[in-house]
Amino acid sequence: MSCADRESGPVVVGRERELDQLRSVLAATTGGSFRAVVVEGEPGIGKSSLVGRLVRDARETGVQVLVGTARELERNRPFGVVFELARHEVESAPDRDSAVFRNVLKLGTRGGTRSGDGGFLVTEELVNALATIATRWPVLLCLEDLHWADVSTLSAVGTVVRRLADLPLAVLVTLRPAPRPAEVERLLEQLYAAGAALLRLPPLADDATTRMACAILGAPPGPLLREQIGAAAGNPLFVVELIRALQQQHLISVADGRAEVPRCLVPPSLRQTLLRRYSFLSVDTIGSLRMASILGPAFSVAELAAVCESRASRLVHALHEATSAGLIEETGEHMAFRHDLFRQALYEDMPAGLRTALHREAGAILAAEGADAIRVAEQLVLGDPAGEHTVEWLWRAARESAAHSASLAVRWYERALDAVRPDDPRWGSMTAELVPHLVLLGRLADAQDLAARAIRHADRPAVAARLRVILAHALTRQGLWTAARAQLDVAAAEYDDPAAAAVALAPASFLRLIVGDVAGAVAVAKRSGAAARAAGNQLAVATCLMTRTLGASAVGATQDAIELGLQGMAASERSHTSFRGFLLPELCLGVAYADADRFTEAEHSYRAGFDRAARLGTASILPYLQANRAILRLHTGAWDDAGSEAEACLELASSTGTRWRTHALAVLVRLAISHHRFDRAARLLAEAEADLLVSGPIMGANWVLWTKALLREAEGRPAEAAEAAGSAWATCPGLRFLHTNWMYPVDVLRLVLLGRDDGTAHAIVEETEAAAARTGTASAAGGALRCRALVDADPDVAVAAVSAYQDARRPVERALAQAQAAVALADAGRVDDARPHFRAAVDTFDALDLRYEENGLRSAMRRHGIRWRRPRPRRPTTGWHALTPTEQQVAELVAQGLTNPDIAARLFVSRYTVEGHLKQVFAKLGITSRVALVNEVVREHAPR
Ligand SMILES: Nc1ncnc2c1ncn2[C@@H]1O[C@H](COP(=O)(O)OP(=O)(O)OP(=O)(O)O)[C@@H](O)[C@H]1O
Ligand SMILES: [Mg+2]
Repeated sequence: MSCADRESGPVVVGRERELDQLRSVLAATTGGSFRAVVVEGEPGIGKSSLVGRLVRDARETGVQVLVGTARELERNRPFGVVFELARHEVESAPDRDSAVFRNVLKLGTRGGTRSGDGGFLVTEELVNALATIATRWPVLLCLEDLHWADVSTLSAVGTVVRRLADLPLAVLVTLRPAPRPAEVERLLEQLYAAGAALLRLPPLADDATTRMACAILGAPPGPLLREQIGAAAGNPLFVVELIRALQQQHLISVADGRAEVPRCLVPPSLRQTLLRRYSFLSVDTIGSLRMASILGPAFSVAELAAVCESRASRLVHALHEATSAGLIEETGEHMAFRHDLFRQALYEDMPAGLRTALHREAGAILAAEGADAIRVAEQLVLGDPAGEHTVEWLWRAARESAAHSASLAVRWYERALDAVRPDDPRWGSMTAELVPHLVLLGRLADAQDLAARAIRHADRPAVAARLRVILAHALTRQGLWTAARAQLDVAAAEYDDPAAAAVALAPASFLRLIVGDVAGAVAVAKRSGAAARAAGNQLAVATCLMTRTLGASAVGATQDAIELGLQGMAASERSHTSFRGFLLPELCLGVAYADADRFTEAEHSYRAGFDRAARLGTASILPYLQANRAILRLHTGAWDDAGSEAEACLELASSTGTRWRTHALAVLVRLAISHHRFDRAARLLAEAEADLLVSGPIMGANWVLWTKALLREAEGRPAEAAEAAGSAWATCPGLRFLHTNWMYPVDVLRLVLLGRDDGTAHAIVEETEAAAARTGTASAAGGALRCRALVDADPDVAVAAVSAYQDARRPVERALAQAQAAVALADAGRVDDARPHFRAAVDTFDALDLRYEENGLRSAMRRHGIRWRRPRPRRPTTGWHALTPTEQQVAELVAQGLTNPDIAARLFVSRYTVEGHLKQVFAKLGITSRVALVNEVVREHAPR
């Protein structure tokens, strides 16, 4: 054999099959599709080399390559990999697309990643940046050594995979079979769900390792050397290291065109292979490296000097020697082993007992030298796990890391808690410190569990009260509103300081409102607001004003609501605590405007809410805002858009780990009924009911039951419909007229009448009339008249409702009033009077694709011999013409090369809404990628 096949550049031998597979992935991406590949293999097996080779190919074919590498030392740095990738992009190509990564980087330097919410924003910017690039070129995103990636990066990549699967993007990750933290497993599951292929790298075949040797030595290896190389068991890293070690010991010579060792050496074990790399070093250097291996994969010179009980100046030679031999390298302020396998070989070469003793000693020395608590704790857990000092240092390490990362802090707190018994007095304090971090990380069930135990252990009421407030927060995030409210009530009683009690009670007032106790909520908000104002606590003042805004809106006091909403906005501006991001003043004001039918102002207010959330980095309030946007579209008759907004709410709820989806689900059920998709409606309804089972009856529950009643009616189950209508009326009675949708009382009334429950029917009419009178809008008047017309069976009142709606800006409600009038008039034999109402209603139903309503009305009129031909052919369910005007607009903008955020900005919606629209578009067109969508648009515009 000759070495004629030596390649230029990095050599990758024996991986032809794997490379072919990866190249086909690249080809698919260049063709516009999304692909994912997981490359798995033991350390040194050649993952990075293979990826490096593919990257070269990709660049040559015009694919944009982005590479991020996770590092062992940065395992706890939130978004470490993401920021590194962004920095590299910004620095390496400042003129190009890298600009899109500046926003990611900005968040990194602003330190906006400590809270779970800040993390959401980084992810959003990453998704944004990748989408922007991938809209222009195919992209290869490589993430190396995923097993070391920090939790935030892992979850961000998961989001990328979920959200960008319509782009020409290849996601390639490499990882070792171990370690496999749960978060890595979760991401792998997501990748496989997105169709990722698994590529396991086996050991190289003998002929490949021979070719490797040939490439390194410039001559093919002789039989004795080949036998030596066999000890590397096909692991290319070992092959390289073995040959280098033999070269360093001058044991290889080239004669007769062959590289050979002089005699039959004992085939080394893998560890010995690596240790050979050290064998030529001086005894001193090896001694220092052994101590360094105790310190971990990286260490500072000062630390090494301390544990060697030496001076830095004495280590100059050893460090120089080890660096020149390529065993350690400088990484920033630290020295690090070039490969952890080197460290492991040295480390494991010492007896276990000795290692433990060395760790203990190192811990003590580092503590005495004033090292970081984290460094000391790392040593002590290995050297003296049950030691009394160890607990203290673990606790200190936890507190120290809390400043940088919640996930790191949690890890240390958990270790510390493992080391103390629950009857230890320190247990309670440690737990109290840990719980807020668990909430931030979204480990809500754990937080809840631990907080409950800590409350039982708390030695002072104030400590218990603080824990209860945190517990309430965890419960709220899980949608357990009633339980949360109860905790806050108890907490308020436990505070001995009235100002503190007011602060605790302010959120309690809001929770009371959410669970439907409007009067109680407003009373608490007034009291607590006054105390908060006296104490100068603007956060609590703003919270109480929010409660009062919705409280006023719920009883139809729209003017008061708007006034209180504006005051709430002002108070929130004056609050400067880090919790102000969790306030919802724009949302409350928006609801007040919407209930007053001032839709433009409501929309502005919600948009301001989104802006503030982005500015302050609080994502958990986004689902609330999004749900209200869906409600707004329902009012204004943009029902298709309402669907996309509601879908966006569900996506936001899941990506922010919150459960505010009641209204959104109800909106989707309502739309599915109108679109005659009863199966879908039933599925969504089941989800909403499952949520309510957990949360108990809360704001929006009456909407869910309203849609349930309608669905049962549509399914031809009138008795169940009447029953559901009854509970829709009885659930959260205080909130009936919040988010006023005047379809709700009318439908409920109609179905209650069907069940012949006249008592409830009259109550509904009276209450609706009273609420409408207070609200004072045209739609309120129309809604109340519709109720009256139903209960009195009076067609003229139904006609009056239509007139009232002439001035209202609620087209669907108006069409429903017209339909009602048409039927009432026809039933009364006034067929000619009925006709114009009938046509007007059908027009609206048809334009908005409300098939269920249209069919119902047509069949009711047919009984009276009234027919009218369809004004236009009905929209098909698949293909280009199935798209709604908004969906067509979104498709056109995609074809122009705009990204989702660009499209969102053009259409004044959120990017989640655009994603919601695209979901519908893809489903209707039967495609999965944007490239396919562009083709559809081009085809649509081609001359026929
Ligand atoms: N197919 C190959 N042909 C020739 N040399 C290779 C091959 N694969 C790997 N090598 C060499 O082996 C060494 C280790 O490879 P590489 O760094 O790619 O492994 P890895 O699987 O990425 O390891 P780690 O898990 O440590 O990241 C490198 O020096 C590389 O040049
Ligand atoms: Mg590698």
